[in-house]
Amino acid sequence: MLFKQQALLRQKLFVLGSLAIGSVLYLVARVGTLDRLQPICPIESRLPPPEPEQIPLRTLQFKRGLLHELRKGNATKEQIRLHNLVQQLPRAIIIGVRKGGTRALLEMLNLHPAVVKASQEIHFFDNDQNYARGIDWYREKMPFSFPHQITIEKSPAYFITEEVPERIFKMNSSIKLLIIVREPTTRAVSDYTQVLEGKERKNKTYHKFEKLAVDSGTCEVNTKYKAVRTSIYTKHLERWLKYFPVEQFHIVDGDRLITDPLPELQLVERFLNLPSRISQYNLYFNATRGFYCLRFNIVFNKCLAGSKGRIHPEVDPLVATKLQKFFHPFNQKFYQITGRTFNWP
Ligand code: A3P
Repeated sequence: MLFKQQALLRQKLFVLGSLAIGSVLYLVARVGTLDRLQPICPIESRLPPPEPEQIPLRTLQFKRGLLHELRKGNATKEQIRLHNLVQQLPRAIIIGVRKGGTRALLEMLNLHPAVVKASQEIHFFDNDQNYARGIDWYREKMPFSFPHQITIEKSPAYFITEEVPERIFKMNSSIKLLIIVREPTTRAVSDYTQVLEGKERKNKTYHKFEKLAVDSGTCEVNTKYKAVRTSIYTKHLERWLKYFPVEQFHIVDGDRLITDPLPELQLVERFLNLPSRISQYNLYFNATRGFYCLRFNIVFNKCLAGSKGRIHPEVDPLVATKLQKFFHPFNQKFYQITGRTFNWP
């Protein structure tokens, strides 16, 4: 009896052992098969192919890495060659308008991985001395970039300077031109405030805005005052239109760029034929500054300098209304030409 039970137990153990060994052998064989399958169907090939025009994130990191070194003049020629970096003439220029938000626009566009900004205002086309230095001088002022990136520069004086449209046309007749505008009276006051601050820094006195903007003899708007003339956008634009078709311009709403920048930037991305890459993540409102600031990544963010967003002096409401009435017909014409309408008074 005892012998029979022992034999049964041995039989059970044998069956269980065989099952266990069988399972182990199956698993080994399976893993072996999986291993062998690997080269036939690598993981990467199962992922969807990358979008052809997608700009690698590496490019953005690059912009914050080596390009910074390049700007400081620390990168070697070898590094430049290895990374296939080039100094390209701008394919788009922010031509104005002064105090429209040109710096904010440039900095915000630079958030796009395919855009590289020329940090300084180059003043190549509006300054005769610079212009005489030639196009190679201009190119050398440009930042290093990858060939697929586009360089953008901003010099707001271009918009109002007589010779500039023809000079830019001679460089590149198909260049894209960006104009950022604000409500003309506000822009004129902003322009005045910048000059006033400069005078105060030098301990100089300056006239009140009202005195400059209105001719005391005729009581009419003083069109000789530069801050007023600059705000007659249509007059300047008409000169540009002698060289470039209206489709080559994009008008940016500078007032909206202050309060809600993303939709304005998305319109520019479209105008420049760039994939939409700037997102709400890149822009955050800074209550202390009272403006949107820029977020490049977790570690790097920045606000514009304190000189952007000055407090304007109070302007006599009668003078403000006089100016608004003066600008009104010019604004209508500007809307008509550009196809972009604003709620300006
Ligand atoms: P104010 O100083 O009158 O407020 P520009 O760069 O062409 O000189 O324009 C300056 C204007 O940019 C400022 O005018 C400010 O209102 C505007 N601006 C737009 N977005 C800004 C931002 N994010 N930070 C600071 N200023 C901004």
